[in-house]
Amino acid sequence: MKPISLIQFLIEERRAGHINAELSLLIEVVARACKRIAVATNKGALGDVLGMAGSPDAQSINVQGEAQKKLDVISNEILLEANAWGGHLAACASEEMEDPQQIPDMYPKGNHLLMFDPLDGSSNIDVNISVGTIFSVLRCPDGVTAPRVEHFLQPGTEQLAAGYVVYGPATVLVLTFGHGTHEFTLDREVGSFTLSRRNIRIPDETTEFAINMSNQRHWQAPMQRYIGELLAGTTGPRGKDFNMRWVASMVADVHRIVTRGGVFYYPLDAKIEQQGGKLRIMYEANPMAFIVEQAGGAATTGRRRIMELQPTGLHQRVPVFLGSKKEVELATHYHQEADDGRL
Ligand code: AHG
Repeated sequence: MKPISLIQFLIEERRAGHINAELSLLIEVVARACKRIAVATNKGALGDVLGMAGSPDAQSINVQGEAQKKLDVISNEILLEANAWGGHLAACASEEMEDPQQIPDMYPKGNHLLMFDPLDGSSNIDVNISVGTIFSVLRCPDGVTAPRVEHFLQPGTEQLAAGYVVYGPATVLVLTFGHGTHEFTLDREVGSFTLSRRNIRIPDETTEFAINMSNQRHWQAPMQRYIGELLAGTTGPRGKDFNMRWVASMVADVHRIVTRGGVFYYPLDAKIEQQGGKLRIMYEANPMAFIVEQAGGAATTGRRRIMELQPTGLHQRVPVFLGSKKEVELATHYHQEADDGRL
């Protein structure tokens, strides 16, 4: 079969009425920026891209209070620069910036809001483990010319598009417009993303889970119960053995799930209770939830569907349970049952 490029796919999606010309351009621009991030990431130690941003005396810290890696800063700049001038955006927001970034006055403005985590899993950069970019697209409310935080605070159900790129052994883009989830692999010789899987389906059942087990003693009772049952394997109530994987790059863990099924959990625990969770709703949880749901999986906070939450902050954090439907539903059921006082 003839390979289908991302551009060709976007034209087909336009013809099908799933996207308009501006959203198509936005995705092209983001994909092009991600190719540049892939190049920077692949250079490794030879490209002076490893290690921390800033100087040893004045380390660069982002809005989350996290020390920034050089590649966090480089990736953020690549995405900002690429998206500034095309006329497809009203504004954008990033994990690395406290406030939304306005489009410079000299460029035309569009009707879309773009949010991104420019380099997810940055603790893995220096050890040559897969990292990635996650993004989410919303419509800018009518009549708004200088979008503020409140204009970004739309539930995940309002997303027009979501995607991630994994910079791994291959560079892979996974994308949804709400009409299935599709995968594109970067053909380095040709320089273009090429459709590698259309309408991905995540199996309902799985025997593989991803969680940071070192937080176990801090988890709430329903999580202790649920993971305890998985660990008990054939000798426990589930009657089957489960395997565990944890890359610590959400993009890589989610990509495994959209490839062969599985579940990913970052639950609330006593250490992070105050901040509401670990992962950020606007540019991590919501786009991943959209992608996973469009592939037939489920995505909850352990209590509620992620995409139905009304966000209250640009950098708000939430617990994340996502992947194979039956497992996510069971883990969520245990939490709801405990909340109802039945446990
Ligand atoms: P960051 O992009 O700030 O490095 O965050 C990574 C996220 C996510 O990708 C991953 O699943 C999780 O944090 C890892 O958390 P632990 O360090 O607790 O394992």
